[in-house]
Amino acid sequence: MNKKLVIGNWKENPSSVDDAKRIAGKTRAAAGLLERVQAVVCPPFPFIPVAVPRKPSANYAVGAQSVSREEGGAHTGQVSAAMLRSLGLGFVIVGHSEERAAGDTDGAVSAKASRALEAGLTAVLCVGEQSRDESGSHFDFVRNEIKASLAGIPAEKARHIVLAYEPIWAIGAKEPMAPADIHEMSIFVKKAFADVFGAEVAMKTKVLYGGAVNFRNAAEIVTTGGVDGLLVGRESVNLPGFIELLKSVDKIQ
Ligand code: PGA
Repeated sequence: MNKKLVIGNWKENPSSVDDAKRIAGKTRAAAGLLERVQAVVCPPFPFIPVAVPRKPSANYAVGAQSVSREEGGAHTGQVSAAMLRSLGLGFVIVGHSEERAAGDTDGAVSAKASRALEAGLTAVLCVGEQSRDESGSHFDFVRNEIKASLAGIPAEKARHIVLAYEPIWAIGAKEPMAPADIHEMSIFVKKAFADVFGAEVAMKTKVLYGGAVNFRNAAEIVTTGGVDGLLVGRESVNLPGFIELLKSVDKIQ
């Protein structure tokens, strides 16, 4: 079965390891009851060990929010893809708009994605426009961002990439993008990916939506928006909201 993928990006939350343990534990327990959804939690680096289960856990995996563009060595403050892999992680987010705003260029994003893929991680590549206007320039922006963020990545790694379309104006906002517009963009993003790696791999590549997703709007975004899953910020550290969200997506046939 092609499961929906719901990734929780905890960002710089919560503030204590006890809270991290509790959120991860409850999310894992809820994920164990799901049938059609794979849940992934992405805690801050220091909380990763308490989120990783001792034994493999059904429909639950752990990811990181970022990764070094270097392989290892003298890079103060950096965490390598190999370190993450050795902790048992399967996923890493690259190119989140908050990291791009802090200075990551498309080149830095493609370097991080390459390191993640080389280490055997799935790279969750975030793309999205800052704003939209009547001229439709956001289409060009997103197409170019996808191409530039994938530059140098070998074709045989393409099937380990997940695309997360996150319009920046919807991140942290009250309302998500309209599901009909999400549908249009999910097709567009897949097409841009196909232009780089070909239609065959693009057909199998998951496209997620992110930006103001919560337990109330998640199911409609997935069904009407036609996406393969969600990248969730605030609601992912808000229990029981996140558990409700997982259940609502799990009900979609
Ligand atoms: P949000 O964040 O769900 O809090 O809007 C989404 C994201 O940044 O991935």
